[in-house]
Amino acid sequence: MTPLLGVFDSGVGGFTVLKRVIERHGDVSCLYLGDTARIPYGEKGSSEIRIIATEVVNWLVAQNVSAILVACNTTNSLAFDVVQRISGVPVFGLIKSAAEMITESRVGVLATTATTSSNAYKNEIEAALPGTIVFEQSCPEFVQMIEAGQISGELIRRLAIEYLAPLLDARVEAIILGCSHYPLLQPFLQELIPKHVRIVDPAIGLAKQLDRFLGSPKSLLQRSLDISKTRFCVTSDPIGFASRTTSWLGTCPDVELVSLLPKACFS
Ligand code: DGL
Repeated sequence: MTPLLGVFDSGVGGFTVLKRVIERHGDVSCLYLGDTARIPYGEKGSSEIRIIATEVVNWLVAQNVSAILVACNTTNSLAFDVVQRISGVPVFGLIKSAAEMITESRVGVLATTATTSSNAYKNEIEAALPGTIVFEQSCPEFVQMIEAGQISGELIRRLAIEYLAPLLDARVEAIILGCSHYPLLQPFLQELIPKHVRIVDPAIGLAKQLDRFLGSPKSLLQRSLDISKTRFCVTSDPIGFASRTTSWLGTCPDVELVSLLPKACFS
């Protein structure tokens, strides 16, 4: 049976993960869930993130996914154990994948407030690579701005300069994009980050980790983003989601509105 990968995030951020997976593994079937009714996750507390993760995973499992890709760092930070415990299928995450990509000894992380408050990146990397120091910086406005398509302009530039300053002052040698929305800002961030500082997208590592499940790709030539085998679902505003993502995907996706609650709740 062809595997079906369940990929989830609060909104469009998980696209950056989907993209890396399709680039590496080609025509894999995916079910993408954007929990748009509850975005942003990154400003919520741990208990709420864990309850949401339970609902999302139960829904994905009911759709018969054969593995889950936690394409949201906030969920990775605060509820990865929940996803692993209740899903009953292999689970792939971003933080471990990022840690395996690190070779530098001073590392910065840009992420949501919930992710930086959890210290999940710091704990994972400093335990895996003793001697490495991790500096975390939250960027509370970025997710909403990216969802609204504001990925350039004076305001986001000013915020980016402000958020990068403590990491650059700490003389980091690499900066991890620790929220799956942020790779959508990469071309813009690249202009503000000095060339000697490596920008790390954890999704590249996650796509590689997936070799264990899907097998190694026959060719490492990057494929273009073909979404013909991806079903897109959201918990609110499917039309807005489809139009916001059209330019990025290069085509207008069919997007279904779904409820994560079991059907019995409506009868
Ligand atoms: N893209 C998600 C992350 O990687 C969640 C962003 C949000 O909803 O705040 O953390």
